[in-house]
Amino acid sequence: MQFAPTEEQKMVREMVAKFAETQIKPIAAELDRTHRHPEEICRQLGEMGIMGVAVPTDYDGAGMDNVTYVMALIEISKACASCGVITSVNNSLYGYPIKAFGTEEQKKKFLAPVAGGLVEGCYALTESGAGSDAGSLKCRAVLKGDKYIVNGTKTFITNGNVARYCVLAATTDPALGYKGVINLIVDLKETPGFSVGKIEEKMGILASGTSELVFEDAEVPAENLLGTPGQGFKQMLSGLDAGRSGIGSQAVGIGRAALEDALAYAKERVQFGKPIATFEAIQFKLADMATELDAAELLLLRAAWLEDNHLDFEKEAAMAKYYAGDVAMRAAIEGVQIFGGYGYVKEYPAERHMRDAKITQIYEGTNEIQRIVVARKLIGMR
Ligand code: CAA
Repeated sequence: MQFAPTEEQKMVREMVAKFAETQIKPIAAELDRTHRHPEEICRQLGEMGIMGVAVPTDYDGAGMDNVTYVMALIEISKACASCGVITSVNNSLYGYPIKAFGTEEQKKKFLAPVAGGLVEGCYALTESGAGSDAGSLKCRAVLKGDKYIVNGTKTFITNGNVARYCVLAATTDPALGYKGVINLIVDLKETPGFSVGKIEEKMGILASGTSELVFEDAEVPAENLLGTPGQGFKQMLSGLDAGRSGIGSQAVGIGRAALEDALAYAKERVQFGKPIATFEAIQFKLADMATELDAAELLLLRAAWLEDNHLDFEKEAAMAKYYAGDVAMRAAIEGVQIFGGYGYVKEYPAERHMRDAKITQIYEGTNEIQRIVVARKLIGMR
């Protein structure tokens, strides 16, 4: 068993950590306050290869592994959770299905610009009536000649208001259930009949746009279909498996930020004549935060390692995602508690970490759905 990262993994983690600390962290509070899309950060991360970490260099990715991806995403999310999810969606939800199921032409045309960091991508699955029950989509794509005519509305789409391209999950016929699901690559700037709908007002990750995508007789070239009809739902679920390491990494990054800030504060804050870090009540919180975050990171690295070695990682990615999300939430709440009254005001980042952490228990498959995935595998129901 080898726990040490390779020289390349170590070097990339250090490079991203330095960039995140010096370029992202100083503007994280401003991004949270203004809800501004961090365009300049996205472009720079693209130049560093971080918008397509595990995408082959032929398609303008960095050609590295998923272990490196997890490490990079933890460091970005530690500085800014919004930058973390934007990076995760470009790499995983958008990038993975095209990398795994796209034709050579689709990869060159649609994967390379996102992996190279020129534009954002998004993945449009969720609808108002299809959240955890992902197979019950109503957004319809009907083949007419050499085009799919798409009608429907997608909700809660991360990057939806800024993305150039989208992988869209739709159904050719709702009566077919999950077997009717297909994935289409859509150029959102060149598709008449497409518009960005409501932009959500959220609790956290405020610099990452979340919007509706509205399709009204939108025409998508049939050549933009990913793989073959009938395979769309399985493509989608395997893409979500891959993406769950991304959101788990975002969660660990947020939790690590909560720990780092609380630790520094506890060493400085003096009460009863001593720094509060000398009190056991505070030490136990810090110890639990550090231990649980290490455990979550190890689960994530295992899932990524399995994926890199072409082994089944569905259960392990689900375990890592839900454990990391729960740990991040606990760490963020304890971070606020350690800051006391200062944890509740916007002068310090503790309250932002708490608002940002919550979503990691909800999106990319709720933590309840992750437990179902794990349990089904244990029981052998699939
Ligand atoms: N990979 C490939 N195929 C899979 C699979 C997987 N992980 N899991 C199931 N399948 C296959 C099954 O084998 C089955 O195929 P067969 O009939 O040929 O055997 C088929 O898919 C249907 O499987 P199920 O009956 O198990 O499907 P289900 O309807 O019960 O759903 C689920 C399973 C796990 C609950 C799934 O619906 C799910 O993951 N739901 C959560 C959706 C989700 O994660 N949404 C997130 C949106 S994106 C987002 O949030 C991102 C963001 O904002 C950042």
